[in-house]
Amino acid sequence: MTGTTQDFIVNRADLSRTKWVSGPAPDDIALDKGQILAEIEKFAFTANNITYAVAGDMLNYWSFFPAEAGWGRIPVWGYATVVRSRSSEIAEGERLYGYFPMSSHLVMQPEKVTPGSFLDLYKQRRELHPVYNTYTRLKSDKASPPALDDLRPILNPLYTTSFLIDDWLADNEFFGATQAVLLSASSKTGFGLAFGLSQRRPQGPTVVGLTSPGNVEFVKSLGCYDTVLSYDKIATLDAGQPTLVVDFAGDGDVLAAVHRHFGDKLVESTQVGLSHWDAPRPPSGLPGAKPHLFFAPDQARKRMEEWGKDGFDAKLGESWRAFAAKAATWVSIEHGKGPDAISRVYAEMLAGRINPAAGNILSL
Ligand SMILES: NC(=O)c1ccc[n+]([C@@H]2O[C@H](COP(=O)([O-])OP(=O)(O)OC[C@H]3O[C@@H](n4cnc5c(N)ncnc54)[C@H](OP(=O)(O)O)[C@@H]3O)[C@@H](O)[C@H]2O)c1
Repeated sequence: MTGTTQDFIVNRADLSRTKWVSGPAPDDIALDKGQILAEIEKFAFTANNITYAVAGDMLNYWSFFPAEAGWGRIPVWGYATVVRSRSSEIAEGERLYGYFPMSSHLVMQPEKVTPGSFLDLYKQRRELHPVYNTYTRLKSDKASPPALDDLRPILNPLYTTSFLIDDWLADNEFFGATQAVLLSASSKTGFGLAFGLSQRRPQGPTVVGLTSPGNVEFVKSLGCYDTVLSYDKIATLDAGQPTLVVDFAGDGDVLAAVHRHFGDKLVESTQVGLSHWDAPRPPSGLPGAKPHLFFAPDQARKRMEEWGKDGFDAKLGESWRAFAAKAATWVSIEHGKGPDAISRVYAEMLAGRINPAAGNILSL
């Protein structure tokens, strides 16, 4: 992978069609005053990145890093090093953490630079939510210890959502539920929430994890769910208790079975993910609470107002470090290097051939 820049692009109408395209050599890319060229070092890849592609048109994910007409570059969380700079504030050699495309390089336009971070206000990324266009300058970063370098892009963005759902549920007194059912319990965002709920013992609801038959033993081994069952065992759950469901799977048949089993005892139905991206969506008119989308930035904004930005960062940071210490023993890092390895991991993830105990770190 020398000479030219490289992009992994996905056909937006048929996510199984992918290709690598070459661009100019890094030295030939024109930089305007204030811009930098970052060389992408490594990035994480989970089902969440497939969801970015599935929801690319609906939720605007394709607009971050444009590609040729009809194709898109999937956003990923990872690390990059500045290899050329026309910025007076960001020097060559700086290492960054944040949101990148599945590419070898990215032209960025750092603005609102502080010792710890900057916003990338390059063209189409100017309007993005700061969650996505804030980059951490790692030389002064204290939030995540270097020992978690690989685990951080795999788990930290997902755990932020897990933390916010846990906090939002507690903030709403669990809507009166004494039992929480989590769908796609083996997903990293799912077990992040289960971890948060398990930390509330003896307060909070008991936590049931539903997963595919092949993932039951893995989910049991985590120790943060009270009960773990496969999707075909929904009918065995206690339907007499007020129950809430948090859905990371987006599988309409599974969600419908949960609603029909609990009926009016289903007091809250929160939709977070689409890990079963090719499954049918839920029918309308299901019994129990009406399913609705969880929007993490709303809860983040509420808590930043109440706790202050520093207070929010401190609570999230403390919770992340406790989770990461556990999760480091649950997830084993698998490194994939080169275009073929990246294409293969993408195809396997798309097809649902996933080992939930593995965390993928990819590099060109
Ligand atoms: N809204 C938000 O703010 C937000 C934030 C973070 C994550 N999410 C969403 O939460 C979901 C989980 O993301 P993640 O990155 O945590 O996942 P992950 O750890 O990569 O999840 C792997 C699990 O997802 C299920 N799965 C994945 N692909 C599948 C397929 N094609 N067919 C059937 N099952 C499949 C399997 O779980 P089971 O066998 O247990 O079903 C698998 O073990 C994603 O849809 C993601 O976008 C949303």
